[in-house]
Amino acid sequence: MSQIIDGKAVSAEVRKRVAHQTKKLKEKGIIPGLAVIIVGDDPASQVYVRNKEKACAEVGFYSEKFALPANTTQEELNCLVKELNGREEINGILCQLPLPSHLDDKEVINLIDPVKDVDAFHPVNVGAIMIGDYHFLPCTPAGVMELIHATGVEIEGKKAVVVGRSNIVGKPMAMLLLHANATVEITHSKTKNLSDITKEADILVAAIGKAKFITADMVKEGAVVIDVGMNRDENAKLCGDVDFESVKDKCSYITPVPGGVGPMTISMLMENTLTAAKLQNGIKD
Ligand code: GUN
Repeated sequence: MSQIIDGKAVSAEVRKRVAHQTKKLKEKGIIPGLAVIIVGDDPASQVYVRNKEKACAEVGFYSEKFALPANTTQEELNCLVKELNGREEINGILCQLPLPSHLDDKEVINLIDPVKDVDAFHPVNVGAIMIGDYHFLPCTPAGVMELIHATGVEIEGKKAVVVGRSNIVGKPMAMLLLHANATVEITHSKTKNLSDITKEADILVAAIGKAKFITADMVKEGAVVIDVGMNRDENAKLCGDVDFESVKDKCSYITPVPGGVGPMTISMLMENTLTAAKLQNGIKD
């Protein structure tokens, strides 16, 4: 029987830490500021953005939302990003993805000043992560690391397997585990004999986007299982990439969906925005 990792509780701890540091910054006259851009009316994105604004209020940040119509042009979006790059009270800029198909997300990401890139999506920040010399970590992988640390399980020397190779989760996730001295293997949809590999994992991170894809027979007895997935099952119920019901009896720790990785992502965004405010004001600690 495994222990369920409580993402809400770990997330609340991170927000408490950020709120405390924000209070100290305010004594110096600095209020961290986050700009969130959303284009169009994708309902899932609207929920994410609302939650990001709520989190900003909770930790004491200034936040500004830019809700642009679906027919916004690339030029208009680029102009907004450039304007925000130049605004002193805005320390972090986040453009909610996905963008409508006529807009190029790479172009927007490349325009965000790397010191304000609180998603850590800009190539400069991606490169910094690669060499282990970074200010910002992408929010989801950073949240996963916090959850693994919360179990108290040592990462060093362990075999970690990441299922999924996206730029936002899989690839940076592997890097962070590597920096923590795990032996890391990245697997993906074209990997042969996937379960032979996942069965060797002491730490298994599932980020594939397929409902209940990881079943008990693919998991090592006593593994730490982290589920990044956010899918709908056959009854339209929210579920992860891991078949929670069967896997929970085989592993040592497991994250639920919802209530696992999800709540961490926004908390790590708050942490990145705080870091951005400190960096831009020359505050070290
Ligand atoms: N859409 C879904 N997740 C994210 C995220 O972490 N950042 C941005 N910018 N868009 C997203």
